[in-house]
Amino acid sequence: MKLHFTKQSEFADVDEFDCDNQALNSFLKDLSLLFQRRHFGVTILCFKEEDLKKIIIGYYTLCPASVQREALPEKFLTGPKPNPIPALRLCRLAIDKRFQNQGYGKILFVHALKKYLDQSKQIGGSIIIIDAKDTKAKQFYEHFGFLSLPSNPFVLIQTIKYIEHHFA
Ligand SMILES: CC(C)(COP(=O)(O)OP(=O)(O)OC[C@H]1O[C@@H](n2cnc3c(N)ncnc32)[C@H](O)[C@@H]1OP(=O)(O)O)[C@@H](O)C(=O)NCCC(=O)NCCS
Repeated sequence: MKLHFTKQSEFADVDEFDCDNQALNSFLKDLSLLFQRRHFGVTILCFKEEDLKKIIIGYYTLCPASVQREALPEKFLTGPKPNPIPALRLCRLAIDKRFQNQGYGKILFVHALKKYLDQSKQIGGSIIIIDAKDTKAKQFYEHFGFLSLPSNPFVLIQTIKYIEHHFA
């Protein structure tokens, strides 16, 4: 099945999207365009085409970020680093419940990480920060080698070097 990726726009039909998480559903339907227009972050939709209809499989949202050195575990602090450290945030990732547990979460996650790698080469950024909504989501990101911040276990991080090595 061919997957397509596109930036959220007023032409996308997201009404039927349901990932079983009300906050993530509402963000896509009610806030993601506004979020994007105000330059807070960009939402990428993944869809497939069936009978000329675009079916949304999932989405993710990226936004710029920075992280204070003091928030990072010791192992992230080798070598000289600015404070705060330039970063990028994966603030949302969701797969429609009809498509969960079929590998799409991984596909979208890797797509987001590759976008981050490109971005990092253009304008910098050495850490990716992820907000996990709950324990299940946290375990999903841990499965890919991301580590919780000591100050908040639902915020996970990894370095650009790690992403380059494991996902490029
Ligand atoms: C969490 C979510 C994005 C995962 O997507 P998915 O399509 O169901 O997951 P995939 O089928 O792509 O799984 C990919 C891999 O992650 C593993 N995995 C999936 N969910 C996991 C979890 N909760 N904990 C640990 N590992 C998990 C799978 O076993 C699979 O492993 P493999 O590559 O070694 O075979 C999806 O279930 C979802 O959208 N849930 C509701 C919204 C949500 O919680 N979003 C996260 C917001 S922060």
